[in-house]
Amino acid sequence: MDLPPFLLDHWLAKYQFASPPIAFDLAASTGPKWTVGELLSLGTETSRLDDVTVSYAPAEGSSALREEIGEFLGVDPDWVVVTTGASEALSVLLCLAARPGGNVVLPSPAFPAFEAMANVWGLGARHYNMAREGNYRQSARDVLAAADGETVLALVNTPHNPTGAIMSPDETGTLAAALAERRVPLIVDEVYHPLYFGARPPSAASMSNVLVIGDMSKALSLAGLRMGWIVDADPERRKKIIDARSYFTISSSPVLEALATHALRYRETLLARLQAVAEENLAALSEHMERVADILAWVKPAGGTVAFPWFRDGRDSRPFCEALAAKGVLVAPGDCFAMPDHMRVGFAVLKGDQFAEALSILEGTLREHLRE
Ligand SMILES: Cc1ncc(COP(=O)(O)O)c(C=O)c1O
Repeated sequence: MDLPPFLLDHWLAKYQFASPPIAFDLAASTGPKWTVGELLSLGTETSRLDDVTVSYAPAEGSSALREEIGEFLGVDPDWVVVTTGASEALSVLLCLAARPGGNVVLPSPAFPAFEAMANVWGLGARHYNMAREGNYRQSARDVLAAADGETVLALVNTPHNPTGAIMSPDETGTLAAALAERRVPLIVDEVYHPLYFGARPPSAASMSNVLVIGDMSKALSLAGLRMGWIVDADPERRKKIIDARSYFTISSSPVLEALATHALRYRETLLARLQAVAEENLAALSEHMERVADILAWVKPAGGTVAFPWFRDGRDSRPFCEALAAKGVLVAPGDCFAMPDHMRVGFAVLKGDQFAEALSILEGTLREHLRE
């Protein structure tokens, strides 16, 4: 299997794991960082981790963790299968759906692993386009038009990486119902749920013909837990998912499950911190985008932690991203998402004053870059 290079992760790893790491990280798609100490200091229980047996955990995840996830999403905990990040959730579902000649319908642009992992399992990809001219809307009509007689799964991602666009529950419901008539399940990737900059829609996890994948990396800002899930109401399919998980990973670490369970009990604190940072920074980013509107255009995100502006003159953003990184500010080049004139700007990791400083360097570098 010839996996394509994961350009996004190459770019991130080069700067985020450098010594010292990049000063201003606007490339990450996560939220403000938490240490284990900060997490454990939430609440008063004492022996949360000391008593954990360092053995295997149940393949579907501990019942305590599934209870918390079920409560978070408003679904029966029995519907929840824990996975190693949404990454494993995706892989499990693609593996189980794979059949010769089959394909999966995916958004374009998208998180690069969707297509790479579909191909790994022998599935082709058919795309629906999220046009910037249409505010990156994901419409049921476009998804259905991309599906054909060989489609085994369709996937939407809301809030969406890299654009920050959201799909309304009505639209998602319409799509799920229409796909049900074709016997095609809909995966809703909700890793950024419930981070919205307007009304907060419910999770799609209760909709029929929907499998939700989610995680603790994005909205809960705990990517290092490597904790994700699949929510599936269908008990027969769930058995297969749990078996697949046993084969793939056996189980999560019970230590990390215990920490994840604890963190989810305090989810309102974690979510509130992310919401506050993201809202404040998005307001600053909006002002910045007005100041540089002669050079860059954008669609303001409606949810999530990233925006996907583009150069009005259509130039490749990579040389600019490299020049900017040399000045200590990291954004992700659009070619990581097969859209070279774009760049992905993460606005939820840095504190307000640091974010403002990063934007000021970004603006100065933009003007310099265009003069060259
Ligand atoms: C849309 C989307 N889905 C899934 C993932 C996988 O995340 P994780 O494995 O950390 O849960 C990512 C990570 O960036 C993502 O952006």
